[in-house]
Amino acid sequence: MCGIVGYIGSKKATPILIDGLMSLEYRGYDSAGIATIEKDAIKVMKDKGRVKNLYNLDGIDKLSGTVGIAHTRWATHGKPSKENAHPHMDNSGKFVVVHNGIIENYADLRDFLISKGYTFLSETDTEVIPNLIHYYYTNGPVSVLKDESEKFLGAVKSAVYDLKGSYAIEAISTICPDEVIVVRKDSPLVIGKADGENYIASDIPAILKYTKEFYLLDDNEFAIIKSNNIRFFDNSLVEHNKAVKNIEWDANAAGKDGYEDYMLKEIFEQPTSIRETIGSRFRLGEKCSFDDIEISKEYLENVNRIFFVACGTAMHAGLVGKNLMEKLCHIPTEVDIASEFRYRNPIIDEHTLCIYISQSGETADTIAALKLAKSKGAKTLAISNVIGSSITREADYSIYTHAGPEIAVASTKAYTSQVVLVAILAMHFAEILGSSDKLEIESLKKDIIDLPSKIEQILDNTEPIKDFAKKIYTEKDMFFLGRGTDYSVALEGSLKLKEISYIHSEAYAAGELKHGPIALIENGVTVIGIVTDKNLVEKSISNIQEVITRGAKTLVITNQILPNNNFDYVINIPETNPLISPILSVVPMQLLSYYISKFKGLDVDKPRNLAKSVTVE
Ligand code: G6P
Repeated sequence: MCGIVGYIGSKKATPILIDGLMSLEYRGYDSAGIATIEKDAIKVMKDKGRVKNLYNLDGIDKLSGTVGIAHTRWATHGKPSKENAHPHMDNSGKFVVVHNGIIENYADLRDFLISKGYTFLSETDTEVIPNLIHYYYTNGPVSVLKDESEKFLGAVKSAVYDLKGSYAIEAISTICPDEVIVVRKDSPLVIGKADGENYIASDIPAILKYTKEFYLLDDNEFAIIKSNNIRFFDNSLVEHNKAVKNIEWDANAAGKDGYEDYMLKEIFEQPTSIRETIGSRFRLGEKCSFDDIEISKEYLENVNRIFFVACGTAMHAGLVGKNLMEKLCHIPTEVDIASEFRYRNPIIDEHTLCIYISQSGETADTIAALKLAKSKGAKTLAISNVIGSSITREADYSIYTHAGPEIAVASTKAYTSQVVLVAILAMHFAEILGSSDKLEIESLKKDIIDLPSKIEQILDNTEPIKDFAKKIYTEKDMFFLGRGTDYSVALEGSLKLKEISYIHSEAYAAGELKHGPIALIENGVTVIGIVTDKNLVEKSISNIQEVITRGAKTLVITNQILPNNNFDYVINIPETNPLISPILSVVPMQLLSYYISKFKGLDVDKPRNLAKSVTVE
């Protein structure tokens, strides 16, 4: 939610900043801006719309500063407009900031500053920050601070002390033209260290092509960044050393590799990403093992409840996880939406294991839900795709999907990798507990190993899905039906469709349809049925027949030989263990949403109103 970039070195900052913003556009794209320190003053250039619009701004090519900050916005306070776009400057023109997050008490701070004579040009919460910095710079405890740099840092610290909410902030000033100050709390920020220059970004891939050496800023940690040195301070401004982290990701993995869109690339990457998720975590005939966690039999025997807590697609992965944990480990398992969990006072104690799933590892509600469980004495386990992300730093245990960078807002390969990882975790727990038949687990392992080649089979035959998309892309409503695990994946199919095609859709447990929603079925309405569990085929098919009778057009995704053939379309997928069948049945639904979005001429990777990483409540 909002992307931040910064540069300090000897090169012209503008192209580096805009390039970095382009790769962070998944975090927000309703307006963008940059600020560079020029010879005489700080120049701010910003506008409404996509990052590429910055290239059209009059005079942007004349900027020659080698220090700069930049921002791509996902509006929270104030509509997308040039005035509300970041960077924001204080009234004196000396301090400029970009900010990701939400300042919850901004109205009080604004009133305070107005009472001191400050004026505001935007509707944003952010604009209080540069003005507070100016206020404390001019009213601060000057005597105890050694030089201008420390005085600037002192002013940033005092300003930040007043803020309630979440923030990642970059600040520059004409007073110290050779440095950038950064600080974060509950919003991500990384610093990339290179030779004679340093980079700043909301995430690692944005600056991975410049360096592999990163500092992952902690909550309430400050840094003064110059071109050839970086100093770190805690929230009392006591200086400390910080270890650099080497990141081994491949910079090219974050590109489109010839695909038209990131989403299509990521759908096609699933065979590879799943192989990466499996990694060396198990082999046939051997027990599962996790290098990153050590969980004892004694601990697991005392776990009386598991919670999966997450948002959006990650929550749908949790629904599949519930089935796996209950079937293989016999531990009662619940799935909660993080934004609900955090405020509903869930019954949790030291016998509860809370598993948090988050691709980005930065989702504000998921992090808050994790902190809540920790405070109640539960053990917490994070499943994330981003090494060193906030959620993994908070959790007692962390395991990674290793799916590679996911850029498209609509999650695809992260979901399938999350389900694979949860399946391996459930098998691991079951092996520790001895709660499942060994042969059953062995056969599930074989099915997991076979998933990549089965996905390849689905991806080899996309034409029928494209064909169906062409027939239905102008529709306004659709329904997804399934039973058991097929219902959990119906929810994901429906979410994908809403996210990128803007078609209203509902997912229903097939047996529940007749208790209300069937009233909405009329001639020509599209219903997508998922039928992969042989024990439930007849039941699911009866429910699909009920909608056919009422005039619905049907697409059935199945791995079974169906008793009837009066469906308009059938997509056959390979058979697998029903516990993990969503990993295969989701793929045609991802493709269906993708093609519908393309036929509608929409921006698949950056759907309206959405952001990939939701770092606000
Ligand atoms: C946003 C994204 C979804 C994602 C959800 C959770 O809503 O648009 O695609 O599933 O956040 O994100 P996380 O990073 O926590 O998995």
